[in-house]
Amino acid sequence: MFNPDCRDCPRLATFLDEIKTDKPDYFAAPVPAFGDDQPKLLIIGLAPGMHGANRTGRPFTGDYAGLLLYQTLFDLGLSSAPTSEHGDDGLSLHGVRITNAVKCLPPQNKPETSEIKNCNPYLKAEIDALNTPCNLMALGKIAHDAILRAYGLKLSTFKFAHAAEHLLPDGRTLFDSYHCSRYNTQTRRLTAEMFQDVLKQASQ
Ligand code: URA
Repeated sequence: MFNPDCRDCPRLATFLDEIKTDKPDYFAAPVPAFGDDQPKLLIIGLAPGMHGANRTGRPFTGDYAGLLLYQTLFDLGLSSAPTSEHGDDGLSLHGVRITNAVKCLPPQNKPETSEIKNCNPYLKAEIDALNTPCNLMALGKIAHDAILRAYGLKLSTFKFAHAAEHLLPDGRTLFDSYHCSRYNTQTRRLTAEMFQDVLKQASQ
């Protein structure tokens, strides 16, 4: 149900058109999920980063936000290599899939609420396609809220907190983590150890 040609959000579609004109070698389109198609863990980020997923076409690939994520996946034996730099580097994930709450790059990395809502059916379809058992891991509050929305739950049902675990109505568990952004890691709001601890729990 992922639509590589989606133009449901006029602001985002226009923004991507402009980028494609300025930087013809950039992916500049909705970024599909990446990884195992029968995962035991679905990791949900916020949205593609300008010079990362929006350039390479793979979530968290080619920019700072992916460094800790892919290194930690590798350290836990969940991938074939510690870095993800290009869409054609042959990287494979073992039992893990990565997607975003919003599939298109938003200006200033800030999707509007209407854009998060427009994109939510795509996230819901990705969740519906999962086999059980499969856990979910939200990177940041926007992803956490998008998951609740995809389940049709009130956003007040579960409070976002780093390392919180929430039992979803279908028996899956949602794990929360602070987003592995440059800001969060450089300020040590999120350390490598904190991140590894949550990812380890979520992938068990
Ligand atoms: N890149 C992504 O794909 N998602 C994020 O949330 C951040 C960077």
